[in-house]
Amino acid sequence: MRHTVQLDVHLTEADAERALREDAREGLRAMPKHLPPKWFYDARGSALFEQITQLPEYYPTRTEAALLAAAVDEVARISGAHTLVELGSGSSTKTRLLLDAFTRTGTLRTYVPQDVSESALRLAMDALAPDYPGLALHGVVGDFTRHLDLLPAGGSRRMVAFLGGTIGNLVPAEQRAFLSGLRAVLDPGEHLLLGVGLVVPEDVVVPAYDDAAGVTAEFNRNVLHVLNRELGADFDVDAFVHVAFWDPRNEWIEMRLRATRPMTVHLQALDLTVRFAEGEELRTEISAKFRTEGVRELLAGTGFTLTRWWTDADERFGLALATAT
Ligand code: AVJ
Repeated sequence: MRHTVQLDVHLTEADAERALREDAREGLRAMPKHLPPKWFYDARGSALFEQITQLPEYYPTRTEAALLAAAVDEVARISGAHTLVELGSGSSTKTRLLLDAFTRTGTLRTYVPQDVSESALRLAMDALAPDYPGLALHGVVGDFTRHLDLLPAGGSRRMVAFLGGTIGNLVPAEQRAFLSGLRAVLDPGEHLLLGVGLVVPEDVVVPAYDDAAGVTAEFNRNVLHVLNRELGADFDVDAFVHVAFWDPRNEWIEMRLRATRPMTVHLQALDLTVRFAEGEELRTEISAKFRTEGVRELLAGTGFTLTRWWTDADERFGLALATAT
């Protein structure tokens, strides 16, 4: 029997518009220039990311899916969750592995996918609804760094899944702030399922973020299309080339857009003019990679214990089941 399908929009068009303006004003006037990765994900950007997950070079999604397949029964049993909240849920494709495991154990009542992309969330919920008729679906359009207080009450039987390595989009101080904030809204004994990309050789990680077919380049440049549309900007998108740079000291990959000629860009909605020198780079994403000990310390320092830890044979990806202490 179908229970309920509900979609709450905490990030209204107006909120998103304001946040984009602030981020663009701050980041395009800074030195070096930068933009937060969340602005990739309009409908086209979300679709391009789905394409990335299928690329031969982009190992994280399929590696994590294999880890999940092996781990979900234990995750469902240990967590005994009634409510599964997924932060940055995107298409919810991998989530099916979890939902199927919970169908076998029978504890789960509600799935709460949360994403910045309303289009991705609608598509995901429409796809899930017919396949999980006994499950209440409660989507939340929001920003995982800002709307943790809106997590539904769950009678201490909640599990929060944060998969895909998306925590790597945060710098370490932000990772700690985010996990501490999450811990603050959880009760002791509730669970976190965290997927993290691991530190791998440079010749493995760089192609994953600079694929031969150029899909990641299109995904990266998409943020300029978003600025052109949403802020009345006049970026000549084709005049920027995609760069994936491995930073060995910080152990993160950076995506950048490099200006191939000097440019003057106007952003009408901000009444702002931005100049790019030839070769100047705009940083659009960091994707931090982790080591096992780093994950354990990050969790311990933010009020979680690492309860189970799965990695693949090549140690490219890690899946942590953590318990709020
Ligand atoms: C969705 C943030 C996990 O960092 O690997 C894919 C995004 N960027 N290719 C990642 C992404 C370039 C992805 N996350």
